[in-house]
Amino acid sequence: MAVIAVYSVKGGVGKTTLAVDMAWRSAARSGHSTLLWDLDPQGGAGWLLGLADASESNAAAVFRKDSKPTDLIVQSRYAGLAVLQADESMRSLPATLARIGKRKRMARMTETLSADYARIIIDCPPVLNEISEQVFAAADLLIVPLPPSPLSARALPMIQAEILANHPRHPPILPVLSMYDPRRKLHREVHTGFAAGWPVIPMASAIEQTAARRAPLGTFAASSDVNARLQRLWDGIEAKLAMQASLNA
Ligand SMILES: Nc1ncnc2c1ncn2[C@@H]1O[C@H](COP(=O)(O)OP(=O)(O)OP(=O)(O)O)[C@@H](O)[C@H]1O
Ligand SMILES: [Mg+2]
Repeated sequence: MAVIAVYSVKGGVGKTTLAVDMAWRSAARSGHSTLLWDLDPQGGAGWLLGLADASESNAAAVFRKDSKPTDLIVQSRYAGLAVLQADESMRSLPATLARIGKRKRMARMTETLSADYARIIIDCPPVLNEISEQVFAAADLLIVPLPPSPLSARALPMIQAEILANHPRHPPILPVLSMYDPRRKLHREVHTGFAAGWPVIPMASAIEQTAARRAPLGTFAASSDVNARLQRLWDGIEAKLAMQASLNA
């Protein structure tokens, strides 16, 4: 089992879009039993997969005990892809976690879920607080989408420093250049500058369409270049996980 978190302190950088895309690829393309776990009160992950909003607001309550949060997990319309949706209650989660004081609660929960899921993909809110602390302790790999802006060059070292300070045995961090538009000079400079060698997600209307259609890109634009690019990104992540697993074995 591997836990992959999509995280950034910056908002609106494509975290939810990428988390949903990867979760779908994990289930539909790699054939893994997959859980998409949404930690953002905006609840965008389930929504992008066409799910109705959760009927009750108790997503934060699962953090009150170490048990498996199975009651709230729903099956998506895609085989092998289940979702633990977020709701309004997640707004109080940082305070709840601070009160409980168990920094590894989420790590324990993902461990108990490992019997049922080969991949757990976490969609994070853009925060640096008790929620991100839980995520850093639970994740095997942190994917950090950053748009091609000079501010991104600041955000990545901030995230790295914060993780290092509190999690000496932290998960590997994979920065991804998101919303890249090669027509823009500044984007090209970032691409060949501080983001050289990072995987790239282009700014693409097909990706934006996933929100209008509420369906994964691979289901309606399978033959597009951007689908091939996103698949390569996912294949690279799978290869990285396999290498990590063989090093830990
Ligand atoms: N590569 C892309 N090309 C074009 N549009 C994109 C791309 N990635 C995301 N978007 C669009 O940008 C907007 C923000 O994306 P998304 O909600 O995934 O970001 P986020 O980082 O999860 O935001 P938040 O911090 O609010 O959770 C959405 O409208 C989404 O459809
Ligand atoms: Mg989001």
